[in-house]
Amino acid sequence: MECSWKTILLLVCASLGIQYTAIRSLTATITSHCPGTETGTHCHSQRRGSSGCSGIFHPQREPPSQDQRQERQHILILATTRSGSSFLGQLFNQHPAMFYLFEPLYHVQQVFANSSARPGGVGDRRALLGAHRDLLSNLYHCNVNFVENYVRPAPREHETAAFFRRGASNALCEPPLCHLDRDSGEATEQRCAKQCKVLNLTLASQVCQTHSHVAIKIVRIPEIQELRPLSEDPRLNLKIIHLVRDPRGILASRMATFTDHYRAWNIWNATGRKPRGVDLSQIASTCADLSGSAGTGLSKPAWLRGRYMLVRYEDLARAPLWKAAQIYHFLGLELDPQVKRWMAQNTQGPRGPAGNHKYATSRNSSATAESWRLNLPFHIVQTVQHLCNHTLLQLGYRPARSLQQLRDVSHTLVQSRTFLPFL
Ligand SMILES: *[C@@H]1O[C@H](CO)[C@@H](O)[C@H](O)[C@H]1NC(C)=O
Ligand SMILES: *[C@@H]1O[C@H](CO)[C@@H](O)[C@H](O)[C@H]1NC(C)=O
Ligand SMILES: *[C@@H]1O[C@H](CO)[C@@H](O)[C@H](O)[C@H]1NC(C)=O
Ligand SMILES: *[C@@H]1O[C@H](CO)[C@@H](O)[C@H](O)[C@H]1NC(C)=O
Ligand SMILES: *[C@@H]1O[C@H](CO)[C@@H](O)[C@H](O)[C@H]1NC(C)=O
Repeated sequence: MECSWKTILLLVCASLGIQYTAIRSLTATITSHCPGTETGTHCHSQRRGSSGCSGIFHPQREPPSQDQRQERQHILILATTRSGSSFLGQLFNQHPAMFYLFEPLYHVQQVFANSSARPGGVGDRRALLGAHRDLLSNLYHCNVNFVENYVRPAPREHETAAFFRRGASNALCEPPLCHLDRDSGEATEQRCAKQCKVLNLTLASQVCQTHSHVAIKIVRIPEIQELRPLSEDPRLNLKIIHLVRDPRGILASRMATFTDHYRAWNIWNATGRKPRGVDLSQIASTCADLSGSAGTGLSKPAWLRGRYMLVRYEDLARAPLWKAAQIYHFLGLELDPQVKRWMAQNTQGPRGPAGNHKYATSRNSSATAESWRLNLPFHIVQTVQHLCNHTLLQLGYRPARSLQQLRDVSHTLVQSRTFLPFL
């Protein structure tokens, strides 16, 4: 009985395969190549469709990655400050085939912040976002020199010592761009910052071209809608990993990190009384951005098809390897052993050598994700829950109803939810 079922299945598959080949050779003559946008996507899904049966013939192979392995990916981590993006970025930074950049938009922001009398004006905002997109697009095409327009002091002979967080990009710390001493126990980022002085941006562009994929982490684009021109650009193969985090955790982390900007919040925390100067819009606008982008992404607009995946930091922290595998599967790429090794060393142990650094990623990840619950007073938590009620509901974060419930970390406030990538 079982045997005959298998035979029928094989026969069906074989006949489908033959039909498919026939249809494909026909369509191949009609559309000789896959141009971008709409038609490109159709071409794409057709090619993917072929793996359905071949998966049965070759069960040892992973079907979706077959076709896409050679395709250049332009990966974008869309995040907000203190949402765990350094950690997520490492999943790409540690992959030897990735040219990974950490927040290159910093340079654009600096120039705009200095040059305009009223930063944040409507006209400025559009120009700034346009400049952000220009830089991203150039970087995805490995035109790293484009950043010279924004780096201060201006690079000379295409060299700069002021590239923001260079050390956070492995590719910029390795030969031929730099030769690090192997011995010292310090983390790569700190060693690179100390030992690698000037960066030759022309050489960096060449190095970028030798990598199969480009991944860029950004926290300076507030809303995914702003990325639509890049997503629709037929020359790019944009894949957006949208990282979100519980806004209460974001706030606690920002209070501890950006003490100047969050001074009033810290006074509130220390004294138990809400100061007049506390700027609620700091967290309210973060929630509006999180919610806006997630709302757009989850509503599945055509321009994001195959290009959008929402990741909650808490899920990543709870099961890093499992989540990493899902992300790589979405991208149609293999999870490199070097990434797995890095994760094993940096997600389970006690704090590593980088533990005290402001953007450290080396720590017990599952303990960190909900540690805010022990660091925020209940009245601040209530305020955020009120400001962000919609965002919490949308992303599956439960409000704490009492101080006791807040502090009892044995009961998680993170609902188990599945956010499937938009394929
Ligand atoms: C912006 O201005 C500040 C103070 O005037 C200066 O220290 C900084 O270097 C400037 N940054 C850029 C990118 O020009
Ligand atoms: C930077 O790298 C390019 C490409 O390898 C090379 O031609 C150029 O001479 C380098 N610049 C400097 C100042 O060394
Ligand atoms: C709030 O104050 C307490 C007590 O001083 C401190 O332990 C905690 O880290 C503070 N929380 C934040 C988010 O800074
Ligand atoms: C990491 O944190 C979790 C949750 O607090 C705890 O159960 C686990 O023992 C910690 N692991 C290490 C290696 O410290
Ligand atoms: C959030 O709070 C506002 C104002 O209190 C209220 O109008 C709205 O219905 C709430 N939304 C949700 C999703 O609970």
